[in-house]
Amino acid sequence: MRVTIFGATGLLGKALMREWIDDDLSGLESKDADIRDPQQISNVLKRTRPDWIVLAAAYTDVDGCERNRELALDVNCRGALSVAQAAKQIASRLLFLSTDYVFDGAKNSPYETNDPRAPLNVYGRSKAEAEVQLSQLLPESCILRTSWLFGIDGRCFPDTILKLAANRPAIDVVNDQLGSPTYTADLARTIIQLCRSDAKGIVHATNRGSCSWFEFAREIVGAVGLTTTVRPTTSEHFVRPAQRPKYSVLSSKSLEKYGIEMPEWQDALKRYLLERNSVSQREPRHALPGTDG
Ligand SMILES: NC(=O)c1ccc[n+]([C@@H]2O[C@H](COP(=O)([O-])OP(=O)(O)OC[C@H]3O[C@@H](n4cnc5c(N)ncnc54)[C@H](OP(=O)(O)O)[C@@H]3O)[C@@H](O)[C@H]2O)c1
Repeated sequence: MRVTIFGATGLLGKALMREWIDDDLSGLESKDADIRDPQQISNVLKRTRPDWIVLAAAYTDVDGCERNRELALDVNCRGALSVAQAAKQIASRLLFLSTDYVFDGAKNSPYETNDPRAPLNVYGRSKAEAEVQLSQLLPESCILRTSWLFGIDGRCFPDTILKLAANRPAIDVVNDQLGSPTYTADLARTIIQLCRSDAKGIVHATNRGSCSWFEFAREIVGAVGLTTTVRPTTSEHFVRPAQRPKYSVLSSKSLEKYGIEMPEWQDALKRYLLERNSVSQREPRHALPGTDG
């Protein structure tokens, strides 16, 4: 199988490049093809001739999207559709990465794949719009929604919390947004399985279980034995440009249809911390804020 990954330099993309063995892989960054330019997409696909395209490229700065609406739509929606158009022309399958932020969080039980989209922020709207148009253009595509990614290859919530906790006696973290943290290594393995299983339609894939950002931070700090106090706060006290859903847990039913069960997020966190530790012994890392998009 020939696979082309757009967004191979991102948090998820790097995990995909590491985990995906036994297939013929081409990993692309924006220098190879800016997905806002259909000609660049077409040129690169002529060279890589994929059976599957994994579209992990996106403008993922959720707060930045509020300030740069056109850029968010250009990359996350129009860019995604250009990739879908090119996939159609060369008869390649497509797996498109989407997000829990297509939902408004008004539910208090896990979101099913057919629950109505109602995004609260520009990032979520750009992805929701892409989903709708993409499923019309290429009904065979797989739309994979995930959430709260963390991994060793870039900025993410656990990394930020560990750096803050190392320098402060106490940190305040919001306790009124619930979701499912997802380890990029686990998600990468799931994506590989889905492509090999010829997945179609909307699929939800996250690590099992759910928590608030506060509970996630408390688990991170406790796991490494830091004495920093983690205090719960609310979104009202921690205002950010983009509104986030209060609840965005995704149901695992669509994944179970493919016989896939992802590990619990606490187990994923332990493996992440071990991996982070071994990486940090090999190379210096830089302080960066966490992301959720
Ligand atoms: N992070 C999360 O918590 C989260 C949650 C739900 C869903 N997702 C989705 O999962 C996917 C992967 O997210 P991530 O966190 O791994 O992303 P990321 O770390 O922010 O990486 C983004 C990737 O997209 C590429 N890219 C950005 N603009 C591009 C453009 N105009 N043309 C071509 N490539 C472009 C970047 O390439 P360069 O390095 O060359 O700039 C980079 O490889 C995304 O679709 C995201 O929306 C993420």
